[in-house]
Amino acid sequence: MTEDEVAIRPALPSDFNVCVAIDVATEAQFVEAGHPEFADGGTIACAEFSAAANNGRLAVAADQGVVVGWVYLATEGDELAIGQMSVDPGFQGRGIGASLLRWAIEQALVAGEQTLVLNTQSDVVWNKPWYERFGFETVEPAEWTVAMQHTTSEQTAAGLDWSTRVHMRRRLTTGPAYGAGEAAR
Ligand SMILES: CC(C)(COP(=O)(O)OP(=O)(O)OC[C@H]1O[C@@H](n2cnc3c(N)ncnc32)[C@H](O)[C@@H]1OP(=O)(O)O)[C@@H](O)C(=O)NCCC(=O)NCCS
Repeated sequence: MTEDEVAIRPALPSDFNVCVAIDVATEAQFVEAGHPEFADGGTIACAEFSAAANNGRLAVAADQGVVVGWVYLATEGDELAIGQMSVDPGFQGRGIGASLLRWAIEQALVAGEQTLVLNTQSDVVWNKPWYERFGFETVEPAEWTVAMQHTTSEQTAAGLDWSTRVHMRRRLTTGPAYGAGEAAR
């Protein structure tokens, strides 16, 4: 299968169960990478999923009709944010995550957003280094917005280790659409 054979389409509320199952399946990858705190299954709530689907803020990747990945656009303070993104471990490394991330960046551009933010692991290769390829930059703690500080506190209270996490921001007003690194690939 190639990236071209996978369709990115708006999510439907009925995609909830499969998206949660994909999310749960990826947790083992974090546990294997030394993060047992990901084993407890925190994921998006059904009502939040349905609302985002109905508002055009969720997309799924479908391989011949079968959902194999998804991305959720949330907000963090005044900024649009990648709320969640997962690709079925059996389908990773084939460009599906890149297609979902491009969809998210495109949505932000179309909406006239200045920035797109996210928070992620700094110490796993499929998180911070991967997002850097799309033009996301680490936001240093001194530069965190109030909303970022709040997110950090909430996640810390929920058991995440923020010594290995980062806030990142993609500026949308300058530079190539998908980041110099990605454009060159
Ligand atoms: C992040 C994620 C969505 C990327 O999806 P994907 O479909 O694998 O994305 P792509 O195929 O476009 O690119 C993934 C890149 O990471 C690399 N990668 C992934 N796992 C890797 C590993 N264990 N070691 C080395 N490289 C790895 C891939 O090789 C690929 O790079 P390449 O294009 O040079 O081959 C997916 O890894 C995932 O669902 N992870 C678990 C959940 C998660 O981390 N979500 C994001 C939280 S902020």
